[in-house]
Amino acid sequence: MNILVIGSGGREHALAWKISQSPLTARLFCAPGNPGIATVAGCVPINASDLDQLLGFAQREKIDLTVVGPEQPLAEGIVDLFVREGLTVFGPTRAAAELEWSKVYAKNFMARYGIPTAGCRIFDGTQLDAARAYLESSPVPVVLKADGLAAGKGVSVCSTREDALSALRQMTVEKAFGSAGARVVIEECMSGEEASVFAISDGQHYIVLAPAQDHKRVFDDDRGKNTGGMGAYAPAPCVTPEILQDVEARIIIPTLAGMIAEARPYKGCLYVGLMFTDTGPKVVEYNCRFGDPETQAVLPLFNGDIVATLYAAATSGLSGRSGVSAVPGASAVCVVLASGGYPDKYETGKEIRGLQELETLPDVLAFHAGTRREGDKIVTSGGRVLGITAICMSGGLRSTIATAYKAVDKVSFEGVHFRHDIGRKGLR
Ligand code: AMP
Ligand code: GLY
Repeated sequence: MNILVIGSGGREHALAWKISQSPLTARLFCAPGNPGIATVAGCVPINASDLDQLLGFAQREKIDLTVVGPEQPLAEGIVDLFVREGLTVFGPTRAAAELEWSKVYAKNFMARYGIPTAGCRIFDGTQLDAARAYLESSPVPVVLKADGLAAGKGVSVCSTREDALSALRQMTVEKAFGSAGARVVIEECMSGEEASVFAISDGQHYIVLAPAQDHKRVFDDDRGKNTGGMGAYAPAPCVTPEILQDVEARIIIPTLAGMIAEARPYKGCLYVGLMFTDTGPKVVEYNCRFGDPETQAVLPLFNGDIVATLYAAATSGLSGRSGVSAVPGASAVCVVLASGGYPDKYETGKEIRGLQELETLPDVLAFHAGTRREGDKIVTSGGRVLGITAICMSGGLRSTIATAYKAVDKVSFEGVHFRHDIGRKGLR
């Protein structure tokens, strides 16, 4: 098959790397890709949001399967467009992707189908006084969420009423997230361990990948600001086989059935962000795509042919399988190397050293996220720069973590920072 991956981050590098290993893959392209992806795929300079150009490319190059990485083109309807033109594409339609692009839709959906999640109230721009009054009387901490896509920044966990009122003002009056803040979800604050579970679905059947844990805060021990994710590991031992079965029964199966009932069957990767509370697993959020950086730890463990699986999901051909599709006993740890200052302001263009030395290490991959080629150098071009990933088929999580950090020590660029505790949660 000729395959096109859309996107340019670490998630897309992991997807392209895994796809490149399948015997089903003939030619592999990525739009727009990055210098790391260029080692496994032909990179095409078309932006992930340029749907018409992407369609033209897929038609010209006789692409048999397109795999969409980021949420934006999914929310803009890339799958609807490609399907209309008779192309095969892995990802949900715009209507099915609403589980991610509208938190109001997702909360109402979960309420309709009895899917466990935090209690909430929803307010629109005409109900600001009511929203303020509600915050005055609700317990803290409390969580505010902008309805729409906000590049991962639309969630505020507020520990005081003042913070909550100020977050409400930022979202609604100051319009910090533009139209994404036109409606606001005010949510009960849950506590418990978090994990991400990915289900690949053809609308009806699904398979589950190794459960992972992301590390969203910028500093060790979950301190500091939220980021896009500073690292991930899989499998997460807090998601035992029994707990996973419970998650499937109470969340994944009713979600897929609910989407069928709403006439928007969910094809693609359903990302379920979970919190394990005292009263059982609850949904923190749905995403309509693979997670980043979880994918860098989850996909290397996938036990099967990823191309056959993605194609089957895109063409309603998945047959149900129980249990996790991951190599037993294997683990993977991805440590994100970030630019100095990230998640706030940072500089780019810093030369990255040590990448060649990494290539000689067994069990280690450097997934590129924010990198760019400048002559014969690779330089930084984003906040999250590299995902240094150790993949060990045996030996346990502790030794996988050690392998990952030994590799991290080989790479450097000016200002680099990273967390030192990726995966440590899994050792408790
Ligand atoms: P999200 O962008 O929706 O993944 O939210 C970012 C982070 O905010 C999550 O990973 C959680 O740690 C936290 N969060 C979101 N909703 C809640 C909630 N209702 N209770 C507690 N923490 C939450
Ligand atoms: N790692 C969080 C996300 O992909 O949304």
